[in-house]
Amino acid sequence: MKKILITGGAGFIGSHVVRLFVNKYPNYQIVNLDKLTYAGNLNNIKDLENKANYSFVKGDIVDADFISNLFATHKFDAVVHLAAESHVDRSISNPLEFVMTNVIGTVNLLNAAKTNWKDDYSSHRFYHVSTDEVYGTLGETGMFTETTAYDPHSPYSASKASSDHFVRAYHDTYGMDAVISNCSNNYGSHHFPEKLIPLSIHNIKNNKSIPIYGKGENIRDWLWVEDHARAIDVIFHTAKTGTTFNIGGHNEWTNIDLIHLLCKIMDKKLNRSEGESAKLITFVKDRAGHDLRYAIDSSKLQKELGWVPSLQFEEGLEKTVDWYLSNEDWLNNVTSGDYKKYYEQQYTKR
Ligand code: NAD
Ligand code: TYD
Repeated sequence: MKKILITGGAGFIGSHVVRLFVNKYPNYQIVNLDKLTYAGNLNNIKDLENKANYSFVKGDIVDADFISNLFATHKFDAVVHLAAESHVDRSISNPLEFVMTNVIGTVNLLNAAKTNWKDDYSSHRFYHVSTDEVYGTLGETGMFTETTAYDPHSPYSASKASSDHFVRAYHDTYGMDAVISNCSNNYGSHHFPEKLIPLSIHNIKNNKSIPIYGKGENIRDWLWVEDHARAIDVIFHTAKTGTTFNIGGHNEWTNIDLIHLLCKIMDKKLNRSEGESAKLITFVKDRAGHDLRYAIDSSKLQKELGWVPSLQFEEGLEKTVDWYLSNEDWLNNVTSGDYKKYYEQQYTKR
């Protein structure tokens, strides 16, 4: 029996990780801690509500006293830490919120883990989920490896880089068993529609313009979210202490090519004539400090721990579109209220 704290489990990736752990490990007790910010949604994990090995706690990782009490009450064996502010554009408008959650929140968790685990680090593990964006940007060639120097450009990536450094510092200084993974862009179900793929699906469906930053030449390396969750499972259970793994699917797309593929799929699904959805593409002002290209070399994870991605992008994107089209209530629910204000601020005032 193990008791595992998963943070951010009501968000996009966290909900997939919680689902995998709850269903695959009936002998683990999974405690899902989430503040339920705009990005957290209990509907993402509704299917788990009544599982005997699952419980949900609403709370803020920035609140040190709350975190300390939570650890004292539950005596966790391990932490899988995903809670974060995750959207680059929001970090440009409000960097401090990213420092609070991503840096201070992570250090609060590390401190509580240290207090509770310091006499026996070997039977406890702190797993920190991070992003490839900490490595900065690539030119036309090359890939990020685990030894690429950190060079973050956005307040989001700077805050994630800082949190990674703190996790390593707690391993190096105090001997805490800590592992980190840095993953490329994820896509799939339950993705909040402020990010490129779900936002575009939502807009195409509603015949609204698809905002493409700059010329659409930026490149991202897309991974199916359930493949990320499987990688986290493998790394959590088998990685050596103090190690880092890059996770990615060797799947680079320029934003404009990706959107054309998405438009083609949407035309088919919505019975539109070919080329109709693509008419919605609108080039808008570029994001400040926009990283040109991300590409992950995940050969260490593949060779050492045997993980491989399971889905081709075309198949995964079609599955993603199917999920959004058959979960209209989910989409309508998250795009009401505050979402409308965010959308107006982000796109109409450019
Ligand atoms: P998300 O924004 O969808 O979810 C974040 C979750 O954290 C939400 O449920 C939110 O309510 C919760 N949260 C935010 N602040 C909190 C706080 N102060 N206390 C407790 N809970 C809080 O993000 P995501 O896309 O699922 O990303 C999860 C993690 O994976 C993040 O750490 C992110 O940096 C990392 N990551 C994301 C991607 C990606 O493509 N989305 C890629 C690589 C790594
Ligand atoms: P996003 O989904 O925000 O992820 P990240 O910034 O973490 O990579 O953006 C993916 C790419 O799409 C990125 O190059 C920015 C671009 N983009 C647009 O062109 N238009 C949009 O409306 C959004 C949200 C993103």
